[in-house]
Amino acid sequence: MSERLDGTVALVTGASSGIGEATARLLSEKGAAVAIAARRKDRLERLAGEIKGKGGRALVLETDVTDPDQAIAAVERAVAELGRLDTLINNAGVMLLGPAAEAPLEEWERTVDLNLKGLLYCTHAALPHLLAAAEQEPRRVADLVNISSVAGRKANAGSGIYNLSKFGVGAFSESLRMELAKRHVRVSLVEPGFVKTELSNHIRDGIRETARQRYVGVELLESEDIADAIAYIVTRPRRMAVNELLVRPTEQEP
Ligand SMILES: NC(=O)c1ccc[n+]([C@@H]2O[C@H](COP(=O)([O-])OP(=O)(O)OC[C@H]3O[C@@H](n4cnc5c(N)ncnc54)[C@H](OP(=O)(O)O)[C@@H]3O)[C@@H](O)[C@H]2O)c1
Repeated sequence: MSERLDGTVALVTGASSGIGEATARLLSEKGAAVAIAARRKDRLERLAGEIKGKGGRALVLETDVTDPDQAIAAVERAVAELGRLDTLINNAGVMLLGPAAEAPLEEWERTVDLNLKGLLYCTHAALPHLLAAAEQEPRRVADLVNISSVAGRKANAGSGIYNLSKFGVGAFSESLRMELAKRHVRVSLVEPGFVKTELSNHIRDGIRETARQRYVGVELLESEDIADAIAYIVTRPRRMAVNELLVRPTEQEP
């Protein structure tokens, strides 16, 4: 049932580490040409080198997706240089936890700017190309995968702004899914639990250790586990849309 992605083009945001990096690598192994976007160019170039070394196609897009011009330019360069766009993985995100009362406003702005506005800029720029791919390309289907979180389904104390951003991604995805269903652009939501990545490194001192206490003793997911879930979604036959995947470590309770 699993389809190959040969001839298709995928753009992955936040591909310089963690889930995005593993996803770009796996989609390439499945045959897609991958456009990889993030701010850390050296990390992207290393990944592109690895992909090309295995015979794949990779395009490095040094991009801050919170800047609408850069987000648009990334999508347009992917299409111009790789020929089309079948798949957008909106993965770039931050998780800046901590109680609202003491939170620097700058963290709230950064969260909204990246987790919501960055995702919206990329989506807006990509939609015409995804629709065109679903209409014209041989597979006659395209995919928009938004990376949310368990935090997009359950709010927690100390996590309000992250919850807000991920609940927002869920609402937007469901609305868009209905709008695009008949046009064969599948909109999917992936909601990981705890994954071993750099995500918690950006939480401010004093809060970071408390946040990490939540998963002490739990065998965390690897980025490759979520990449595998994403690859499952985008390799389904045209008739089948995986709308939502909630993937926790087996031992994660909350
Ligand atoms: N790890 C988890 O437990 C977990 C759980 C649920 C959901 N998630 C979600 O999974 C997604 C990926 O996170 P991760 O866990 O893989 O963490 P990560 O390793 O920190 O990856 C985050 C990625 O986002 C990129 N990014 C940050 N700011 C950006 C910007 N302004 N423009 C473009 N790219 C930017 C980073 O690259 P640069 O710094 O190079 O720009 C990096 O590639 C996020 O949306 C996160 O909310 C993660």
